[in-house]
Amino acid sequence: MEKSGQGCCSPRRVVLVPAPFQGHLNPMLYLGSILHSKGFSITVAYINFNSPDPSNHPDFQFLQIPFDPSELLQIYRGEYITFMLMLSEYCESPLLECFSQIKEKRDDSEKISCIIHDEFMSFSSAAATRLKLPSIIFRTSCSTTFISRHCLLHLTIEDLDSEELVPELPYPIRFKDLPLNTLGTLENFLKLVVNIENTRNSSAVIFNTMEFLEESSLAKIRRESHFPIFPIGPMHKIASASAGNLLEEDRSCLLWLNKQADNSVLYVSMGSVASMEEKDVTEMAWGLANSKQPVLWVVRPGSIKGYEWIESLPVGLMEAVRERGYFVKWAPQKEVLAHPAVGGFWSHCGWNSIVESLSEGVPMICQPCFGDQKVNARCLSHVWKVGLELRGNLERGEVEKTVKRLMVKDEGEEMRKRAMDLKRKVEISIREGGSSYSSMNELVGLIMSF
Ligand code: UDX
Repeated sequence: MEKSGQGCCSPRRVVLVPAPFQGHLNPMLYLGSILHSKGFSITVAYINFNSPDPSNHPDFQFLQIPFDPSELLQIYRGEYITFMLMLSEYCESPLLECFSQIKEKRDDSEKISCIIHDEFMSFSSAAATRLKLPSIIFRTSCSTTFISRHCLLHLTIEDLDSEELVPELPYPIRFKDLPLNTLGTLENFLKLVVNIENTRNSSAVIFNTMEFLEESSLAKIRRESHFPIFPIGPMHKIASASAGNLLEEDRSCLLWLNKQADNSVLYVSMGSVASMEEKDVTEMAWGLANSKQPVLWVVRPGSIKGYEWIESLPVGLMEAVRERGYFVKWAPQKEVLAHPAVGGFWSHCGWNSIVESLSEGVPMICQPCFGDQKVNARCLSHVWKVGLELRGNLERGEVEKTVKRLMVKDEGEEMRKRAMDLKRKVEISIREGGSSYSSMNELVGLIMSF
């Protein structure tokens, strides 16, 4: 059978514009692999910061957007929200220059079907309008975050401490869980939200989620939006190629996992952006050591504020953790979560980590740091009931108790069963006839219709 993107008429190219962060690049590159397997040619137009590695995707064309972000990064060090807002101001014309290059290089019969851009790269939609091309938004966080973020536009800062449930949301999300992002000023964050909510010029929105997981939020978006939405997750399970990593994976942890009993290991990782205070890491380490559970702990270089790696931990404490634990700087996370020895995941609740954990039936300890992670943590603990929340300052006794609740108590076993049930639903959703499978085909149909 002919692949869709090489249909009867002319070959088709899709241009992807990812945001320059690991948690955004990965799902966009998975989407590229999936569309490539459907016959589309893929161009990735990327910013010269956290750049993807072209060697992982020899079939894709990679073009650097001709804009140097180094000055912005210096001015807004760590203030990623403001950085993203500034990118939007400067990058429309440079992206148009990329299109001149694509046109020069492509064969005459090839047609550019559309631009698919990360929601944070909203300048792409303006560029698409100028080029008279359709554009599609890819939201890498969940659909419940999308509708929760909208609520922020009508609130005062005082409302955001409230324990009350937000009435317009279909799930029990409190005002204090709303996805305020502190990596920049509030004013700039709200400007960014207005930017990314602007779907005026877009033909559709893609989510890396599953219908069964967020049915009510997806239904609310469908009722209230004028564009089609495509929940086509979990993309890492559908794509044939790996997305690659910005840091080098330490695969030795898989050998260590091979020596551990089934479901005994707690995997600990705070993703690619979040950082922690030294005192919280120390309480965390004491709690983990005292729990006597085996631990595989990812400490990303620079993720303990003021330290390069784990030199902030006293030698005795390090030894206590190492007695049953293993430290790495970056793990092959998807393989770790799929390993039979892993029985729990202590996470900052980035959306990719959640999708990866649920795809393997692993329940979680939820320690959200900022933004969408608070919404995600609340869904894990109160909607899907496969997570225990740890919020605020960490305390070693509380850490030890929570680890034992998840790893050894009946309560944790119940969560593991519910997580396994979600894993089965994930498998069904990506099989022929499943919701993500069908949604993907509809998305391909839409792109072919452009
Ligand atoms: C950021 C935000 O924190 C998150 O809330 C948002 O949903 C996406 O952008 P990040 O902090 O990177 O994401 O977390 P997450 O979404 O979980 O993505 C991290 C990715 O890095 C995952 O795909 C994970 O598999 C990968 N990873 C992480 C590794 O491969 N190895 C590691 O050791 C740690």
